[in-house]
Amino acid sequence: MEKKTVAILFGSISSEYEVSLISASSVLRNIPQDKYQVVMLGITKDGRWLEYTGPIDAIEKDLWNTPEWTCPAVLSPDRSVGGIQRFTPHGVETVKVDLVFPVLHGEHGEDGTMQGLLELSGIPYVGCGVLASSTCMDKEVTHILLEQAGIPTAKFSVVTRGQLDRFEELEASLVQQLGYPMFVKPANTGSSVGVGKAKDAQGLRTALEEAFRYDRKVLVEETLVGAEVECAVLGNYQDCQASVVGEIVPHHEFYDYSGKYLDDSSDLYIPARLPEETTQQIRRMACAAFAAMGCTGLSRVDFFALKDGGIRINEINTIPGFTSISMYPKLFEAAGIPYGELIDRLLTLAQERKAL
Ligand SMILES: Nc1ncnc2c1ncn2[C@@H]1O[C@H](COP(=O)(O)OP(=O)(O)O)[C@@H](O)[C@H]1O
Ligand SMILES: [Mg+2]
Repeated sequence: MEKKTVAILFGSISSEYEVSLISASSVLRNIPQDKYQVVMLGITKDGRWLEYTGPIDAIEKDLWNTPEWTCPAVLSPDRSVGGIQRFTPHGVETVKVDLVFPVLHGEHGEDGTMQGLLELSGIPYVGCGVLASSTCMDKEVTHILLEQAGIPTAKFSVVTRGQLDRFEELEASLVQQLGYPMFVKPANTGSSVGVGKAKDAQGLRTALEEAFRYDRKVLVEETLVGAEVECAVLGNYQDCQASVVGEIVPHHEFYDYSGKYLDDSSDLYIPARLPEETTQQIRRMACAAFAAMGCTGLSRVDFFALKDGGIRINEINTIPGFTSISMYPKLFEAAGIPYGELIDRLLTLAQERKAL
C-alpha cells in the first residue's frame, strides 16, 4: 500500500502555541510510519509559515525555528497545487499532500479560520469543519446552540467592554442573575487563559479586566459545584462514539493553566468516580452535543456532574490537548484504542468526511 503524505501543522499565533508544540510532537512520534509519511509545517507566534525538517525534540522545546531546519512554505488554497508551496533560493517547489492534521489549539487553529483555508485547498483534514470549529470556539454561541438542542449548560451572561464604565449597575445585575461566586471567562480563549473566579465586587472587576485582555466579549457564569468530567468523542456527525468518562480534581481553586500544563496540581480519575447511570447519561449527552454542533473527527466534551445529579456541559474543545498524556487520548486508550491507532482513525475519518 502506498503511503499517504500527511501535513502536520503546529504552533500558530494563539495563546496556546506551546501546547500545540507538545501535542504535535506526540502526534509525530506516534503516527503509524507504515501508512503515513509526514511533512511538518510550523507557524511561528507571529504567524510566519515554515516547512520544518529538523528533529521532533526541537519542536517540543520550541527550538525548531532555525534557518538550518526551516524553509518558508505555505499550504496553498489553490486546488491545482494540492499541497504545500516551498519557497527555496532556487524557486518555488510543490509538495503534494493527501491529508492535513492541524495540531493547533485556540485562535487561528481551532476556530474555523484554518479550516476555511483547508476547505479552499480541497485537501481532507482532521477535525471539525468551519462552522463547528467556530461555533464551538465561542463559548456564548456554544451555550446558545446547546440550549437550543435541549442540552443544559451553566446560567450565564455576556459582558462587553463598554459595560465596565458603569460597573455598579453591571455588578448589581450579575449578582441578581447569577450570584457569587461567578466564573469570568473570555468568550474565545482556551487552556484557562484569562479565566477567573470572582467572590465579590472587587474580585469581579479584576476578573473582568483580566478577561478583557483576551477578548472583547466575556462570559460570566454561575459557579457549578460538582465533579468536573470529560468525555472524548470520535466520529463524523451523528455517527460517533463516546469514550470512557474521565474526572479532573484540581488542587487549585479551579482547573487553571498551571494545573493543566505546568505542575501536578490536579488529579485525574479514569474512569470518573460516578454512578454507572450518570456515566452513561454523560456519554449519551457527549454524542448528542457532538451531533448538535455538527462536529466531525474529534471533540472533547467537558461537563460538570452536579451534586444533585444534574449534568451541565461546560464546553466543547474541537482540537483538545493531544499529547500522549492528555485526557482525549487517555480516554480512548481506556476505551481500547491506543494512541497510534487513534491518529490513524482520525486520518481515516477525515477522508470519509470528505467523501460524505
Ligand atoms: N461555571 C463554572 N463553574 C465552576 N467552575 C468553572 C465554571 N466555568 C469554568 N470553571 C473552571 O474553570 C476552568 C476553565 O474554564 P473553561 O470554561 O473550561 O475554559 P477553557 O476553555 O479555558 O478551558 C474549568 O476547567 C473549571 O475548572
Ligand atoms: Mg476547559
